[in-house]
Amino acid sequence: MRFIVLALVLAAAHAETGRDAWLRYEPLQSPPSLPAVIVVDGDSVILRTARDEIIRGVRGMTGKTLRIETGEPKERAIILRTAKVQVDDGYWLRTAPVNGITIIGSTDRGVLYGAFALLRRIALGQPLTNLDVHESPYAPIRWVNEWDNLDGSIERGYGGRSIFFDNGQVRQGLSRVSEYCRLLASLGINGCAINNVNANPRILAPDFLPEVARIAAAFRPWGVRVALSVDFGSPKTIGGLDTFDPLDPKVEAWWKQEADEVYRAIPDLAGFLIKADSEGRVGPSAYGRTHADAANVVARALKPHGGLIFYRGFVYDHHMDWRNLKNDRARAAYDNFHDLDGAFDDNVVLQIKNGPIDFQVREPASPLIGALEKTNQALELQITQEYMGQARHTVFLAPMWKETLDFDMHARGLGTPVKALVAGKTFHRPEGGFVGVSNVGLDDNWYGNYLSQANLYAFGRLAWQPDLSAREINDEWTRLTFGSDPEVLRTFSDIQLTSWRTYENYTGPLGLQTLTDITGNHYGVAVEASERNGWGQWHRADEHGVGMDRTVATGTGYIGQYRPAVAKIFESLATCPDDLLLFFHHVPYTYKLHDGKTVIQYIYDSHYEGAEAVERYVREWKSLRGHIDGERYRGVLAQLQYQAGQAEVWRDAVTNWFQRESGIADDEGRVGHYPGRVEAEAMQLDGYVVHDVAPWEGASGGKAVECEAQACTATAQFHGAPGWYTVRVEYFDQNNGVAHFRVRLNEQLINEWAGSNNIPTKKVDSSSSTRRSIPGIALRPGDTIRIEGLPDGGDVAALDYIEIVPFESGANPASVGASKN
Ligand code: GCU
Repeated sequence: MRFIVLALVLAAAHAETGRDAWLRYEPLQSPPSLPAVIVVDGDSVILRTARDEIIRGVRGMTGKTLRIETGEPKERAIILRTAKVQVDDGYWLRTAPVNGITIIGSTDRGVLYGAFALLRRIALGQPLTNLDVHESPYAPIRWVNEWDNLDGSIERGYGGRSIFFDNGQVRQGLSRVSEYCRLLASLGINGCAINNVNANPRILAPDFLPEVARIAAAFRPWGVRVALSVDFGSPKTIGGLDTFDPLDPKVEAWWKQEADEVYRAIPDLAGFLIKADSEGRVGPSAYGRTHADAANVVARALKPHGGLIFYRGFVYDHHMDWRNLKNDRARAAYDNFHDLDGAFDDNVVLQIKNGPIDFQVREPASPLIGALEKTNQALELQITQEYMGQARHTVFLAPMWKETLDFDMHARGLGTPVKALVAGKTFHRPEGGFVGVSNVGLDDNWYGNYLSQANLYAFGRLAWQPDLSAREINDEWTRLTFGSDPEVLRTFSDIQLTSWRTYENYTGPLGLQTLTDITGNHYGVAVEASERNGWGQWHRADEHGVGMDRTVATGTGYIGQYRPAVAKIFESLATCPDDLLLFFHHVPYTYKLHDGKTVIQYIYDSHYEGAEAVERYVREWKSLRGHIDGERYRGVLAQLQYQAGQAEVWRDAVTNWFQRESGIADDEGRVGHYPGRVEAEAMQLDGYVVHDVAPWEGASGGKAVECEAQACTATAQFHGAPGWYTVRVEYFDQNNGVAHFRVRLNEQLINEWAGSNNIPTKKVDSSSSTRRSIPGIALRPGDTIRIEGLPDGGDVAALDYIEIVPFESGANPASVGASKN
């Protein structure tokens, strides 16, 4: 009995929730021979963290507990010490037969990073003999931003509520904060802005600072420094001044006094982050001042404390007139900041998004990055998957980031990639680096999806060493997170490394950007949501052609913001890469890409390829059953199956929209023809009422049926060949209720479920459209399939269609017919 209890306890201890992410320290089959002793030469909270992490890791992987000793080691030992061996936070890992393993860091943080590096080597089974590894980070700034609100919600966060705040206060228990910092430190991340860039001024209120100080205390053992997003209007809103004019001496004095106060509470604060004059935030334009005036007044206040100010380059006018073809949001960052190069103080860092728009599925690198020579910069990447499927779709972002990091801006002739520019290497800037918008939440797996963690891992590894390849990073992450079974590695590398291209294929290829609900949840498909409004994410598709003309010759002139060598490539249709064609050029649908395919046919083909790729991911993932733990296996399977359904919604929406707009049919005859599909509006309805869906492309046939009674049914009769089939029900899972569905085959109940997915909409539209697959159903001509919907609250148990496809194959439903009763 005792044995059983113990076994259960052990099993529970090993439950794979994803919470330890890549720091699981699973027992190794053949652990290396390690010293029995650990010695720390020095004493600090970070050194103690490093020591304890090594003890924890070694215990997990080898089952042995290292003995802590002090002073000169008398036997082989793991020795931790600091010495100026590397720049900044670097480390030197060394093995010597007599002494054991030495981790020498240039700072305490360097020792901690060296400790994690050693544990990573052990976990990856890399040799420890003759170690002589020198590593130092590529850039001093390796930060994350969290867009957490003080009420505990997170702007664009998909992994639950804030780990920092709840209900206007800092949480009482901060254990998740420490756990998160452990993950950050394991990657060498050294700073974190803890609150939303759309900042609540209260973050600086005197009674709130002691609360923030508690968070800083939780960060400190991990060498991560806290930064705060502050509102530029604070001198007025919380300071009681009648102005926030950056050139007003009262305002200057206020910022100084405020900085002094903040540093009294948090002496090691990393600095402030400011979003000004953007998306409704106040800024220096209110007084006709420049962004340099704004940044510098705060910079001067932080300077005596060694603080940095991150000033965001994400400044644009969201009330632009779309009728004017010369208007272009992409121009904004460069237009706002280029002339100010050299006007910023040395402790100001301009934080610039990777692309000129806003974290779209594909954008060129922002030209501002190549234009600044006398200004510190940091590249802002988005780890949280706002426009990338919001953790409901698998999208591994390292391949995309790599393209940006390696893009040659020709800022000083050939060989000035983005990574070197932002790290301050090209123009010898004192500060520079990388910022990832992370937005983790309280969910056990941090992001609401096990695979999304790979993006934090990739961000941290690239911020440390941007020359690593996406493949290397994925391989490391997979081994550490899911183990080194060759099947697992193969499957992960296929899914992860192709997932960005796949997502692009079924969302917005050729530089169209993510064709989503721009003014709403940024999730489901809505092809025209970007048009005829001031937000400027226009693709200008009409019946004649598609794409933004950003050329110097005839368009908005945006391309002229790049250095001539780069501009030349983008300006000419002959040399512009196909992947960015529609970002830079407006072309007719019949325009031929470099391989001779027309733009319109590429739009059709890529969407079908994308949707098919996700079906393949599901099949591949199923082959991993038994190769990884059940909890994560089932979690990822459910996510991929959902994604496969959504990919089809995207596919159908975008292809139908473009077919209608262009009037040009798909060469393959797929668009608009869905063998095996029966529209709900064509079924025999009882209680269900037909409604138009807006926008129309979000539902098959532009219509859905909604239940306007207590319970409703939709019935169809099967007329295909007898055989085994999968019945797919496309329904709408609104988030304002939990509707129930039942499926009957000739009165026999064959499936039932609740529409309780966490989907970001209460509307019946493409975002809520969800697929339920019921495999292995024997059908014969004349069989009746009936869906029963039971609404709940605002969720009207809406249906789009059913689709009957051959069981297993799923690929070719052409021989199946089903029709109205
Ligand atoms: C995006 C995002 C906003 C965010 C903004 C920013 O537009 O949708 O929620 O505030 O970026 O980066 O400031």
